Amino acid sequence: MSTDLTVPASDIARVTLASKAAPRIAIVAGSGLGGLAQRVEGAVTIPYAELEGFPDVGNVVGHAGQLVCGTLAGVSVMVFAGRAHLYQGVTARGAAYPARLAAALGAEVLVLTNAAGGIAEDLAVGDVVLLSDHVNLTGDNPLRGWPGPEGGNPFVPMSDTYDAELRARVLAAAPASGLRVREGVYFGLLGPSYETPAEVRTLGADIVGMSTVMEAIAARALGLRVLGMSLVTNVAAGEGLAHDEVLEVGARSATALEGLLTAVIGDI
Ligand code: HPA
Repeated sequence: MSTDLTVPASDIARVTLASKAAPRIAIVAGSGLGGLAQRVEGAVTIPYAELEGFPDVGNVVGHAGQLVCGTLAGVSVMVFAGRAHLYQGVTARGAAYPARLAAALGAEVLVLTNAAGGIAEDLAVGDVVLLSDHVNLTGDNPLRGWPGPEGGNPFVPMSDTYDAELRARVLAAAPASGLRVREGVYFGLLGPSYETPAEVRTLGADIVGMSTVMEAIAARALGLRVLGMSLVTNVAAGEGLAHDEVLEVGARSATALEGLLTAVIGDI
């Protein structure tokens, strides 16, 4: 098993060539949030299949599978439209590839967006939750076997995984977006099966999903600041939950969330 968090030199070269300026902010656009990529100005698109280190995950509905380089609100960005999930059979290190590539290119901030199920009673479909913390229930970790930077210490502190200052910026900009935005704790499951009602009762978290955690852990190990944003697309373990439903709600609130993020990025 590779224990490395580095990325192939060919991927660094490819993104460098596609970017007019070194990307400052990397964004992972989750299920239904791929519209962010369409806001990128001067966009140069790289299909994941052309990135040597990106795990081969085929197609999942709602995930575009390409990296878009350019600017958002005048800031040099790289937007990952779609991600590789553990439930697709990729390794933890593979699921964390966007964080690894962003760090290799010298980005300062990694924004992780996703669709999530709402557990807390006050959450409604279409709300946005800024991750204040997560609980990693996947049973995996992208740092497993990692010796640490330059063979140093692999025990990465996780007490401030999600950057408080970035969260404060989003909260300050939120009223103008028309979205209900609050902070909360994300429970990351392996999937692909959804959580059971008993799991929902046991979890006691605010939101639940199947992504983000691997990327956030690797990002912290590599020194990136992380902002996590979940769009609540359904009530967790609700009846008749279908991937279609997740995508449809995503589409309705996504535009507002994309606008909010773009406004904040211009200020970072
Ligand atoms: N559970 C897990 N992942 C999800 C959900 C959910 O309810 N909604 C969107 N992604």
